[in-house]
Formats: sequence, C-alpha cells, structure tokens
Amino acid sequence: MSITIKTESEIELMRISCRLLSEVHYELGLYVKPGISTADINDYGEKLIRQKGGIPNFLHYAGYPASICVSVNEEVVHGIPTKDRILKEGDIVSLDAGLIYKGYHSDAARTYGVGEISSEAQQLIDITRESFFAGIKKAYAGNRLHDISAAIDDFVTPYGYGIVEDLCGHGIGTHLHEDPMIPNFRQRRRGPKLKKGMTLAIEPMINMGTEEVEWLDDDWTVVTCDGAYSAHYENTILITDSEPEILTLHEEERKILQGGDICQSQM
Ligand code: MF3
Ligand code: CO
Repeated sequence: MSITIKTESEIELMRISCRLLSEVHYELGLYVKPGISTADINDYGEKLIRQKGGIPNFLHYAGYPASICVSVNEEVVHGIPTKDRILKEGDIVSLDAGLIYKGYHSDAARTYGVGEISSEAQQLIDITRESFFAGIKKAYAGNRLHDISAAIDDFVTPYGYGIVEDLCGHGIGTHLHEDPMIPNFRQRRRGPKLKKGMTLAIEPMINMGTEEVEWLDDDWTVVTCDGAYSAHYENTILITDSEPEILTLHEEERKILQGGDICQSQM
C-alpha cells in the first residue's frame, strides 16, 4: 500500500468526520470527573458518536471490545473500559476515540486530569500536547515525514521523558490505519515526501519515566514498565502547501490554544 492523496470531495468528508469527532471529544472532556467508571466514558462516547451520525471505528477493530480506549495513569493506550475502574482525584486519563462518517475515518486522543492533579502530571500532559504542535510545524508539502518525528523528539527529549517507540501515528482515510507509519522519535532517514492532500494521524505517547512499555494479559492495554504516568495527544491533520489543517481540533480548544502561548510559540 502507498500513501493515499485525498481528492477535494474526500477531504470534505474527512473534515466532517473529524469535526464530529472533535465534538465527541469536547463533550467527553467535560464529562470526566472523579467517581465515574471507564465504562461510563465508553458508553457516553459511543452514544455521542452514534447521535452525531457516526459509527465507532474502534469497536471490534482487530477484536477490540469497546468504542473508546480509556487509559488511566500508567496505562499508555488501548485501555479497555470496565465498570469497576473508577476514576479518582489525581488520576490522569487518556481518551482515544474515532468514528466513521460516510466511509471516512477520524482519530484523535486527549489526556485529561481528574479533579486536581499534581503539577508534574499537568506538565506531562502539556508537553505531550505541545510536542504534537512542535511536530506539525514541519508538516507541510515538500518536507519529509520524519521531519515531523525528529521535531517531536527534539521537543520532548530535554524534559527527560520517555517517548514510546512501540506505537506510531499513521495515515488515515477510508481505513483507520493507512500508510505511512509515523514514529514519534528521530529516524535515520527523512522518509517519504509530504504531499498536499495526505491525511495523517499524528499521536505522540509520552511517558514520565522510561520509554519502555509492555502489554497486559488482556493483550490490549499498553502500560509503562516502571508504572510512571503516560500521556497521549492525537489529531487527524490534512497536509497543505502551508500550515496543516488540524481536522479534529474543536473550536473551543482552538480558542484556548490561541489565547495561551502554544500557538504563538509552536505554530
Ligand atoms: N487511535 C488508535 C490507534 O491509532 C486506535 C485504537 S485501535 C483499537 O492505534 F483497536 F484499539 F481500537
Ligand atoms: Co491513531
């Protein structure tokens, strides 16, 4: 398979799919609070996806049993929601969600603090998000794919965090996972040329301690080997001749990012 270039009408469907997903994420973010279970998040998220006319794309994907991946604290990604995992003050929770609209996939992830969290945990969440913006500064036609990987690596490494290497970002479109794989760490080669019309899911997964991860016995949940917290931030983007379009960013998030120093310093 090669990297697909979307036509204008496909891009329009990607935009809609991604906008609907951004609304799901925004509403899930408001819903996160101490006392709810990870299954509550999944049930609410799946209801929102369907209400908006989408189909959950994670459900039954390679046998995954839920619509939203909910990963708490040392869980990196692909946590399986359950009724007995109750969020408590001080936890951090990563929500990874996607949907299909008229055959086109969207994919995005956010990490939220549950109630009051430590300043260390907040910094991990902030740096993970900012690393995405550092990466996509390089995401325009004419540059090369691994320029994004190197930019994420260069941004994160000074903080002493571990960048997960076992999982990557990916192309996205009529399939959830398309070519290319997009590592979040520096590569020896600059990789394929970026072209206008590519749609990519960029998703740094950053650990407070070691980069090493392992899989739990459920064969899905990825956890840090040292038990330290991990954060995840993902958007589906569109490559253009200039700045990429961040298709899964919600209007309210855009306002907050523009109000802070993130857009000025990172975009
Ligand atoms: N966003 C995730 C990824 O890109 C999708 C979860 S795959 C699932 O890998 F199977 F867990 F749904
Ligand atoms: Co993804």
